[in-house]
Amino acid sequence: MGYTKLSFQLPFSIFTIFLLCSTIPEISAVGYPINVWPKPTTFLWTRPQAILLSPNFTISHTNHPYLTAAVNRYLRQVLTEHHKPLVKPPLNLTSALPLSSLIITITDVTLPLTHGVNESYTLTIPSTGSSNATLSAHTVWGVMRGLETFSQLVYSKPSIVASGLYISDVPLFMHRGVVLDTSRNYYPVEDLLRLIKAMSMNKLNVFHWHITDSHSFPLVLPSEPELAGKGAYGEGMKYTAEDVKRLVEFGMEYGVRIVPEIDMPAHTGSWAEAYPEIVTCANMFWWPAEVEWADRFASEPGTGQLNPLSPKTYEVVKNVINDVATMFPDTFYHAGADEILPNCWKVDPSIQTFLSKNGTLSQILETFVNSTLPHITSLNRTVVYWEDVLLDSSIKVSPSVLPPENVILHTWNNGPNNTKRVVESGYRVIVSSSDFYYLDCGHGGFLGNDSQYDQPPGTDPGNGGSWCEPFKTWQTIYNYDITYGLNETESKLVLGGEVALWSEQADSTVMDPRIWPRASAMAEALWSGNRDETGKKRYAEATDRLNEWRYRMVTRGIGAEPIQPLWCVKNPGLNCAYGLELPRLEGYTGRICRNWGQQFDEDSFKHKLPQIF
Ligand SMILES: *[C@@H]1O[C@H](CO)[C@@H](O)[C@H](O)[C@H]1NC(C)=O
Ligand SMILES: *[C@@H]1O[C@H](CO)[C@@H](O)[C@H](O)[C@H]1NC(C)=O
Ligand SMILES: *[C@@H]1O[C@H](CO)[C@@H](O)[C@H](O)[C@H]1NC(C)=O
Ligand SMILES: *[C@@H]1O[C@H](CO)[C@@H](O)[C@H](O)[C@H]1NC(C)=O
Ligand SMILES: *[C@@H]1O[C@H](CO)[C@@H](O)[C@H](O)[C@H]1NC(C)=O
Ligand SMILES: *[C@@H]1O[C@H](CO)[C@@H](O)[C@H](O)[C@H]1NC(C)=O
Ligand SMILES: *[C@@H]1O[C@H](CO)[C@@H](O)[C@H](O)[C@H]1NC(C)=O
Ligand SMILES: *[C@@H]1O[C@H](CO)[C@@H](O)[C@H](O)[C@H]1NC(C)=O
Ligand SMILES: *[C@@H]1O[C@H](CO)[C@@H](O)[C@H](O)[C@H]1NC(C)=O
Ligand SMILES: *[C@@H]1O[C@H](CO)[C@@H](O)[C@H](O)[C@H]1NC(C)=O
Repeated sequence: MGYTKLSFQLPFSIFTIFLLCSTIPEISAVGYPINVWPKPTTFLWTRPQAILLSPNFTISHTNHPYLTAAVNRYLRQVLTEHHKPLVKPPLNLTSALPLSSLIITITDVTLPLTHGVNESYTLTIPSTGSSNATLSAHTVWGVMRGLETFSQLVYSKPSIVASGLYISDVPLFMHRGVVLDTSRNYYPVEDLLRLIKAMSMNKLNVFHWHITDSHSFPLVLPSEPELAGKGAYGEGMKYTAEDVKRLVEFGMEYGVRIVPEIDMPAHTGSWAEAYPEIVTCANMFWWPAEVEWADRFASEPGTGQLNPLSPKTYEVVKNVINDVATMFPDTFYHAGADEILPNCWKVDPSIQTFLSKNGTLSQILETFVNSTLPHITSLNRTVVYWEDVLLDSSIKVSPSVLPPENVILHTWNNGPNNTKRVVESGYRVIVSSSDFYYLDCGHGGFLGNDSQYDQPPGTDPGNGGSWCEPFKTWQTIYNYDITYGLNETESKLVLGGEVALWSEQADSTVMDPRIWPRASAMAEALWSGNRDETGKKRYAEATDRLNEWRYRMVTRGIGAEPIQPLWCVKNPGLNCAYGLELPRLEGYTGRICRNWGQQFDEDSFKHKLPQIF
């Protein structure tokens, strides 16, 4: 590596920094002069100052199709963004020479973007432009994370950059994602591109695309064109093979993998438009008045489940899997398998016959898994299933048909409890707890003719119609520990998490504010954690930083919603904070807000905090 020697000539070399480590603490979080989100794991800045970025600034790097695209993008950004932080960083501009180059070194440029790829990097910005800044990483993908950090350290017009600093950064969790459902409502490709862009800004690396469901089938598959032909909402509401290729390539340039999900065998009502013969209970009323909740046909309007006893089902399913695996190169394949309802299968005569011969619904699901899982793994894929396939109370398969080396389970119910159950069974897990990570919650119900909203004044409005109320605030998301209650061995099986936007009541018009900046909260918690060096939760100092970061995302074209009045951003620190600690519930606190009144002696609390009540 030609640049190794050079780094020892820097006045502010890595070697010097390590010597300083023991005596000079890292810059304190409070009064952080410039914001980087997610906060790097190690940020050493002994004398905070800034230098001009030369208008001739260059970034030198190895040629690589995706890295070159990223470098060109960041170069343009640092020279033209001219970000004006809401609170001007108290940094003195040194009279040193402007910084003229950033030198990138990569240990192995050939490593592909896959789960577990090394994303660590180190970034050194010298205190004078007579030296070069350096960014070193093991992989191209680590460099992309470092370039994002560098871009956030640049601000003002003309561009100036924070200087005299050393950052060494590495994520806590390898899998940091966003789930977007494009079946309940359609999102144009431009929205998905913008989502990937915003994810990359937050160092998130997996776009889990829940493409299809009972409501629509927008993905055009070469071998099964009728599925979208009849199952999409309309001509302009489809994703073609070209769209997918564009998204996948775009994702690579931003260091974001795309994991496709074609949910099955439930959540497949839309398949019945093309293939009514392979779908049970399609187009039925989801929950007839006379029927118990347990006997509903679907958990929301939009019924239909694939029939695992029909040979024709597998003809279609195998074409779908083959096409999807061809279109999406990622080695993770999300195969759904959530929320299978007994009554939907029971309307089918062939299933009735099977059951009358003492067959069980769980055997029917196992038949489906036995016929599809080995096929997906034969395509060199790791299969992700929702937790239901193992944990559902009525329809589930034996763990013996879900080899842990090929299967990852994705948890969403019962807070940390299901994650615990899954890792105890030896599976790797991705966490999307609906108590913490569901971005759609708390927005009311979507069903018409809903009598619960017609209550006399003064009546408790109950849960407001949202099954997973309340709204998950950025703080709820930030403070959630996805390895809560797990021992060290079990924690290692937790690959990471995904916040999820289910789209019954979301589309293009609200996508950005529903996702951002709450996904940023998870992004930091999974990258460098939600605690400070002493182990204390750092939500207090994170508030000001997230405020600034949200503002910067907005100026970068992401419609992230505000988390506070602008007044707070301009008066950071204590002005908009609680002055003392609020009491906490011990243990599981997913429903803290709703239970507030019941769990606390509100009166004794009130006189302590007159300013709140
Ligand atoms: C930038 O490059 C141009 C042309 O190469 C040169 O004239 C100019 O002085 C340079 N500016 C700085 C600040 O280095
Ligand atoms: C900036 O310079 C002023 C005046 O020399 C000094 O008082 C202040 O401490 C400096 N700020 C920082 C962050 O070094
Ligand atoms: C900085 O990097 C450039 C290559 O971009 C090199 O020509 C120059 O010598 C380096 N400067 C120093 C001080 O190392
Ligand atoms: C990632 O790369 C860095 C730099 O080469 C190295 O120090 C680190 O050990 C690697 N991490 C893993 C998990 O291999
Ligand atoms: C089903 O089980 C019942 C009771 O266990 C038994 O009487 C019956 O013979 C079984 N029927 C078949 C077809 O195996
Ligand atoms: C699924 O496959 C496993 C292993 O081959 C087998 O033991 C099991 O009986 C199969 N299940 C069904 C329902 O066919
Ligand atoms: C299978 O996937 C692994 C990564 O999970 C990759 O290293 C390997 O090259 C792939 N094999 C084939 C035949 O594509
Ligand atoms: C999780 O398990 C604990 C202990 O069994 C229980 O008290 C708690 O209610 C469970 N939480 C949820 C959300 O199921
Ligand atoms: C962690 O829990 C697992 C059960 O999930 C148990 O087998 C293992 O011994 C525990 N490890 C430690 C270090 O306590
Ligand atoms: C609304 O629901 C009531 C039952 O609560 C039912 O009697 C009525 O027909 C429904 N009206 C419409 C328009 O669906």
